[in-house]
Amino acid sequence: MLLTSEQLATYDEQGYLVVPGALPPAALASIRRELPTLFAEEGPQRVMEKDGRAVRSVYGCHRHHDLCARLVRHPSLLRAAEALVRDRVYVYQFKINAKAALVGDVWEWHQDYVFWLREDGMPACRVTNVVLCLDDVTEFNGPLTFVPGSHRHGVIDPAREADAVDAEVGQIDTYRNSPAWISNLTATLKYSLSSRTITALVERHGLVAPKAEAGSLIFFHPNIAHASGINLSPFDRLLALVTYNSVHNQPAPSGPRRPEFLVSTDVAPLEALPDGEGLEPATVSAAATLAVRK
Ligand code: SIN
Ligand code: MN
Repeated sequence: MLLTSEQLATYDEQGYLVVPGALPPAALASIRRELPTLFAEEGPQRVMEKDGRAVRSVYGCHRHHDLCARLVRHPSLLRAAEALVRDRVYVYQFKINAKAALVGDVWEWHQDYVFWLREDGMPACRVTNVVLCLDDVTEFNGPLTFVPGSHRHGVIDPAREADAVDAEVGQIDTYRNSPAWISNLTATLKYSLSSRTITALVERHGLVAPKAEAGSLIFFHPNIAHASGINLSPFDRLLALVTYNSVHNQPAPSGPRRPEFLVSTDVAPLEALPDGEGLEPATVSAAATLAVRK
């Protein structure tokens, strides 16, 4: 799948783009079959919801899990990311966000790039998010919600936002004694946008929460203001999110690096899977196994 010039223009203009039917049901089924294994692996790469029982996210699976390693090299994701970033790319971050039926919690309003700038020293916003919908995304199960066009404001001053947010909300306890990086992953984000800023942005640009069938791809710009609500439905909303960075935009952290499962240091340009190789069971053979980092 190659993005058309119209689709590229929509992404540049709106900050997001939905492409239905990018991956076939068999490929989704292959990935979904692996999820219980990925979710069962205990460790810091697995982040729980506030209840401590439901998995919220698992990070870095592309490093050690063959099917995920293949997914990030799938031409429909990789070629589109190269077109959006206008360069060769590598995976900066990979995660699966579960948003489980009835218990999946919110993602507060935020922009993504500010995290990577502040926490990792990523020099420029030459990076994009590609979301594979593993389930149908509906109005009921906590869809990604965007302020279209808000990416064009660039990074919204995090210090000013922090002051405003502190004045607006209290903090939750669950991860209080955890390492600093955890506060970027839980339902209380380190760089959330204040109500005042969101109100102003929405007054100007409006809101969208695209519905998308399983197998769709949603591309979104790391400076777009986005959030998602709780999952009110009895249906999961599983998303695989791949953040592709330009190979010429590697982070230069001024302090300690965040863990490898959050910020991949394998910066070699990705090669797409050969034509005709997909993620369906027949093509995921031992012979086709990629050498992925353990
Ligand atoms: C979500 O999974 O709803 C939010 C993901 C993100 O903010 O990147
Ligand atoms: Mn985000």
